[in-house]
Amino acid sequence: MAPVPSLSATVHQRLADALAAALPEAGDADPLLRRSDRADFQANGMLALAKRLKGNPRELAASVADHIPTSGDADPDPVIRAIKVSGPGFLNITVADSAITSTLALRAADGRLGVPFAERPGTTVIDYSQPNVAKEMHVGHLRSTVIGDAVVKILDHLGETVIRRHHIGDWGTQFGMLIQYLIEHPQELDHASDTAGTTGGTTGDTTEGATAEGEAAMARLNRLYKASRALFDSDEEFKDRARRRVVDLQSGDEETLALWHKIVDESKIYFQGVYAKLDVEIRDEDVVGESAYNDDLRRVCEELEAAGVAVRSEGALCVFFDDVKGPEGKPVPLIVQKSNGGFGYAATDLAAIRDRVGTLKADTLLYVVDARQALHFKMVFETARRAGWLPEGAARQLAFGTVLGKDGKPFKTREGETVRLVDLLDEAVERAATVVTEKAPELTAEEVAERAAQVGIGAVKYADLSNSMARDYVFDLDRMVSLNGDTSVYLQYAYARIQSILRKAGSAVPRPHAELPLSAAERTLGLHLDAFAETLASVAETHEPHKLAAYLYQLATAYTAFYDQCPVLKPGNSAEVTENRLFFCDLTARTLGQGMALLGIRTPERL
Ligand code: ARG
Repeated sequence: MAPVPSLSATVHQRLADALAAALPEAGDADPLLRRSDRADFQANGMLALAKRLKGNPRELAASVADHIPTSGDADPDPVIRAIKVSGPGFLNITVADSAITSTLALRAADGRLGVPFAERPGTTVIDYSQPNVAKEMHVGHLRSTVIGDAVVKILDHLGETVIRRHHIGDWGTQFGMLIQYLIEHPQELDHASDTAGTTGGTTGDTTEGATAEGEAAMARLNRLYKASRALFDSDEEFKDRARRRVVDLQSGDEETLALWHKIVDESKIYFQGVYAKLDVEIRDEDVVGESAYNDDLRRVCEELEAAGVAVRSEGALCVFFDDVKGPEGKPVPLIVQKSNGGFGYAATDLAAIRDRVGTLKADTLLYVVDARQALHFKMVFETARRAGWLPEGAARQLAFGTVLGKDGKPFKTREGETVRLVDLLDEAVERAATVVTEKAPELTAEEVAERAAQVGIGAVKYADLSNSMARDYVFDLDRMVSLNGDTSVYLQYAYARIQSILRKAGSAVPRPHAELPLSAAERTLGLHLDAFAETLASVAETHEPHKLAAYLYQLATAYTAFYDQCPVLKPGNSAEVTENRLFFCDLTARTLGQGMALLGIRTPERL
């Protein structure tokens, strides 16, 4: 279906035409239209234009208005009902009720709700959800996963080619210790030596199965990590053997690589368990960790050095920046190769850029990574640009803030340890179960569990996504699962309530009645519904999912006002009024449902 022009786009076009007719010398001046509380829309562009043309803004605005025939004129505009000059030279515009309903009818007739594909879609490589092998996932990985997943879904919905890259930490010196220990204690990662016994009879097919397997895998990895660490710290000879093992790993020794694989695979089982709980789909082919770039690192260094982008300094290969200085004004370089010959995080990221731009042909590179890595990415992007591997402005870090505890400090357990992501998710689901049971005490245990997962996980995701990314936010479960306020639960209830009304009304898809006059609450809801496509376009452009969250919250709020003021299934209503209101209900639910899905949040049919 053809994309549906929004009323704001239509009005904008009408004004631009009227402006050009009234004032040919205005060129293609922008009428600057926006939504307004006073009328439906307000145009402010006449002020700047009058200044430029040295005219009177009110007169100018009036002559524009004169070029739009409204009700009372012969052949009135079907969209604009009234246009009035106000204040110093604004134009207040009211659209016709029938135009609102007819536009919504076009949206409702389209499976995409009239949302167009981007005009010039490109290829975006997005680097998100990058946990580290043999380590637990924590709240930082929550943010990267949830934000990345939403950005992927939104870009993909608008037609962008999205390539996902999970740059997991699967390489480095710590593997020498783990592998050496495994060689000396071959039974260590064996499933048979599990004490937890949680894997018995479970499979990864269900969320619970995947989570249980994942937890068992992490328990084995933790045990391996602790045991090898203890030996590493206490036994000098083991330490030497572990260090030599790093060299074997880097040179591709077969036995060493096989054990490395075993550790990585075990970690992936764990990650998938967390992803299942988090209700996020991460595909194995998109997991391209640090190790994948290993063979390119030497060439990256050679090219940087040959091009003069990097120089040797105290044995290390470094890139310097005029504006990056440490304490006492000493320049802080990006170290691409350490003085002992080892390659680090930066070299890998540079190799990844070459691959993503050169081989994957990305136009845009996004990195959903903690703001505390901002300096790293600034230096890496600038280095790649100097080397000619990255066009200016093509890469962007979607830097996110820190998750804080109620004390306002980075979120830690009472013992001062980082909080395990799974524990946090479990707690959210538990709290949600309480909320669900209170609301619907008649549910079976199974129903409670299913809804609690959708509500609890949705609450965690929404709390994260509804804050602008760069901000720190406080992880407050009580607030997150509250039925009131800007929470996913409030949105999910709005959705479920509409479904219950639609069920009560019967099976037919409600038809709109554009001939009916609309009340104020219907107009507000209708105009907001009409802005869905534009909201998505702007969210995709700026990569800011919180704007979609804000839009959906406003939608639910507008719906609540409509629901209070415009009884839907009232015996006194005419059949047409009832059906038109059901039509508004239905489109609201579909918009809420699609919007929430783009944020990765479920909208259960009943709550
Ligand atoms: N593994 C890193 C961490 O847990 C994040 C990796 C970010 N991505 C990248 N291309 N450097 O902090």
